[in-house]
Amino acid sequence: MLQPVIMAGGSGSRLWPLSRQLNPKQFLPLTEPQLTMLQATIKRLDGLACSQPLLICNEQHRFLAATQLKQLGMDDTRIILEPCGRNTAPAIALAAIKLHTIGQDPLLLILPADHQIADTNAFHASLEAAIPLAEAGKLVTFGIVPTAAETGYGYIQLGERMGDRAFAVNRFVEKPDAATASDYVSSGQYLWNSGMFLFRSSRYLEELAEHRPDILTACQQAALANAYDLLFTRVDADAFAGCPDESIDYAVMENTADAVVVSLEAGWSDIGSWSALWETSTKDANGNATQGDTLAHDSHNTLVRAEHRLVATLGVDDLIIIETKDAVLVAHKDRSQDVKALVEQLKTTG
Ligand code: GDD
Ligand code: MG
Repeated sequence: MLQPVIMAGGSGSRLWPLSRQLNPKQFLPLTEPQLTMLQATIKRLDGLACSQPLLICNEQHRFLAATQLKQLGMDDTRIILEPCGRNTAPAIALAAIKLHTIGQDPLLLILPADHQIADTNAFHASLEAAIPLAEAGKLVTFGIVPTAAETGYGYIQLGERMGDRAFAVNRFVEKPDAATASDYVSSGQYLWNSGMFLFRSSRYLEELAEHRPDILTACQQAALANAYDLLFTRVDADAFAGCPDESIDYAVMENTADAVVVSLEAGWSDIGSWSALWETSTKDANGNATQGDTLAHDSHNTLVRAEHRLVATLGVDDLIIIETKDAVLVAHKDRSQDVKALVEQLKTTG
């Protein structure tokens, strides 16, 4: 049986001003009006043979996470709380170590809590294709046919065919620079890494022991002090603070000799920025995606979200306009990656 591990510890700063430190994007209803991104991630598992998910998120979001699980009738979901963010390699290690301590070594289905997948059936079919490979000890990632030279993704060079939709991974390159990404896309030999993975829990720990023993040791030490508080598991804050900050992509996927990619054609999107949300949204005849009280006149290809006031646009193109109670963002759609830098600046200047 698959053990879903849902990673919900990111900050989502490129979706400011809706996504905030205390309420980041995975806890917001960004793609579906009725479900937050975390809830949509969990609902997407309906119909799959899997155990109750294990959630891993930051300590400061514990009530938000617990409330959203409760809304789905999943009050008994176990939640690992990180005292600070150390990125995904340690987060997954904490989950694997916790399961090991209770004598379990399942296939872990690692799921970011902030993706959109349009076709759930196709998603399930790719998962089914990955199971035998993960059972054979492979570290399976799910690959997406690239549509642009995005620099925020991992790139997977396809190796020999391993099955229906599976290929060995020749090379995994996390976040290449723009020129390299462009070469990869035009070569036709690469897929994007979706950021979802399937592998045996012990295989992940073995890979970490081989390539990043420092991360493994820090997580083992942090987990020695596991404290249980109802459904929450806490780790030792000092030990975890000493853990290197690294993603699974750099720590394991770039280094393992045992990676396999299964292609995923399911309308996948990483809602990583406002322009990505615009891309996947339903649009009017002028290409505008609007939500809330809005009026778009003679405006094109614009994303407008109004939370508290009427927002009207006139004669503008390619804008992002996000209105919230205490902050309004107006940005060119091409600059939506830079919202992160804007937030950094706000943090330093107040
Ligand atoms: N629990 C926990 N703790 N979760 C975390 C942490 C952490 O410290 N850091 C990030 N996450 C969660 C995020 O909430 C997100 O759901 C997921 O892990 C991935 O983190 P991102 O920070 O969004 O990664 P990325 O988008 O830069 O890159 C990854 O995803 C791309 C596709 O969206 C990589 O896997 C890339 O290779 C991939 O292409
Ligand atoms: Mg992401």
